[in-house]
Amino acid sequence: MRTLIREIIAKEGESVVLEGWVRNRRDHGKLIFIDLKDRSGLVQVVFLPKPEEVHASATELRSEWVVRLTGKVNKRPDNMVNADQEFGAYEILAEGLEVLNKAEELPIPIDTDGREISEEARMKYRAFDLRRERMENNMKMRAKVIHAFRKYLVDRDFIEVETPILGKATPEGSRDYLVPSRIYPGKCYALPQSPQQYKQLLMVAGLERYFQIARCFRDEDTRGDRQPEFTQLDMEMSFVKREDVMDVVEGMLIELVETLYPNKRIQQKPFPRITYKESMEKYGNDRPDIREDKNDPGLLAFCWVIDFPFFEKDEETGGWTFTHNPFSAPQPEFMESLMNKENIGDILTTQYDIVLNGYEIGGGSIRNHRPEALRKVLEIMGFSDEKIQSDYGHMLEAFKLGAPPHGGIAPGVDRIVMLLQGEPNIREVIAFPKTGDGRDLMMDAPSEFTEKQLTELQIKVNKTK
Ligand code: AMO
Repeated sequence: MRTLIREIIAKEGESVVLEGWVRNRRDHGKLIFIDLKDRSGLVQVVFLPKPEEVHASATELRSEWVVRLTGKVNKRPDNMVNADQEFGAYEILAEGLEVLNKAEELPIPIDTDGREISEEARMKYRAFDLRRERMENNMKMRAKVIHAFRKYLVDRDFIEVETPILGKATPEGSRDYLVPSRIYPGKCYALPQSPQQYKQLLMVAGLERYFQIARCFRDEDTRGDRQPEFTQLDMEMSFVKREDVMDVVEGMLIELVETLYPNKRIQQKPFPRITYKESMEKYGNDRPDIREDKNDPGLLAFCWVIDFPFFEKDEETGGWTFTHNPFSAPQPEFMESLMNKENIGDILTTQYDIVLNGYEIGGGSIRNHRPEALRKVLEIMGFSDEKIQSDYGHMLEAFKLGAPPHGGIAPGVDRIVMLLQGEPNIREVIAFPKTGDGRDLMMDAPSEFTEKQLTELQIKVNKTK
C-alpha cells in the first residue's frame, strides 16, 4: 500500500512504498540520490550499490520521471539533517524501484520559481508549469481561501446556488461574450458578466442569504489584474443596510487573514472608510493605496470607498450613465431626487467598494427593490420603454411580486488570492488563465469554427481583418 511522504515520520525503520516524481538526481557513482516528490512533500532517497539491479535502474532515472519505490525509512544523523526541507530529518534507503512513466526532455525548468521564463513558454506547457513549487502552493492556498469563504458563509445561513452560464445579454458595463444558438438561428445566449440579476431574483425567491463561487465573463482587454473570465465570491442578502453587508465581508476577510496568513498584518481594523471625493482628491483615484509602508510585503491595508456619485455623463453620447451598477439604490436622502429625476449629478449611490493595497477587490451596493425606482434609473439613462421592457422587464415584473429590500457585494477571488500570495498578477493564481492577449496557448483557443459547425448555426463569417 502507498505511503505518503508526510506519513514516513511515523514509520521510522519500516519498509514503505512511495509513489511520486523524481525532482532531481545526483549520481555519485556508488551512491545515487534523488529527491522524491508527492502531494504531501519531498524526501531524499538513497540508492546504495546493493541491491545491484535497483542501483542499475536508478542510474537511468531523470528529473520528473514517475516512480514507485520501496525503501526503508531512516532517520538521518543530526549533523546530516537538511533543515531546509520539511522531511529533511529522514531519508529512504531504496530497496526496489519501478518506473511508472518517463519524462522526455523538459520544455521549461520547474525547479525554479519560473519568473525567469517567458510567459509564452509557461502558458504553452501550463500543465507542466503548474508542477513548480510556487504554483502548487498558489493552487493549494487558493483552494484554502475558497474553502474558508464557503465555511464562513455557510455557518452564517448563506445558501450556495449555481446560476446559469447561458443567459441573456443585458447592458451591465462591459462587452458580452455571445454563444450562438443552434435551435434558434440568429439568436444567441450571453455569458454572464456577473450573476447580478439572478442573485437579486433569488432574493425575490425568499432565500434571504445567497452566495456562489461564480465564474464571470467580460470581453475586455486583459491586464495584470483582469482576465476575460474570472471568479467572484458573489453574495446577496435581504433586509440589510449598507453596514450589514460591509460587516459580513469585513469579518470574513479578517478571519481569513488571521487564520490562513497569520504572518501578515492588517494595517487598520475596523477597515477605514474613505469617501469617493476624498479618495480622488488625496490619491487621484478611487482605489487608494493607503499602506503606511509600501516596502513591507506582509502589510495588508484594507479600506472601504463609499459615497460614489450614482450617475456620470457619458462622454460619447452626452447622456447620463451609471458609474457602477444600474441596480443600485441611491442613498436614502437622494431617493426623492431620483424619483423626480432632479439634481441627477448630485445623487450619491449606496455603492461600496473594498480596496486592498491599491487594488479594488470587491464592490457592491444596496439595490432598488421597488420597481418604480429601478425604472427611474433606466429612464435617466435614456432607455426607451421598449428597451426597458425587453432588457429589464423580467426584473421589474419580479419586483412587483413582493421583493424584499436587499443588497450584496462580489469580492474578486483572483485579486484577493494574488495579493495574499504576494503575486504580481492574477495569472499566477489561476490554473489555466488566458495570456495577456486573450489566448489559451496550451489548448490553442480561440480556434476556427469547422464548416459543419457554421452550417449548423447558420452563421456566415465576414472577416474584415
Ligand atoms: P464589479 O464589476 O465591481 O461588481 O466586480 C466585482 C469584483 O470582481 C473583480 N473583477 C475582476 N477580476 C478579474 N478580472 C476581471 N476582468 C474583473 N472584473 C471585476 C474585482 C471587482 O471588485 N455584480 C457586481 C457586484 C455587486 O454589485 O454585488 C459586480 O460584478 O475584484
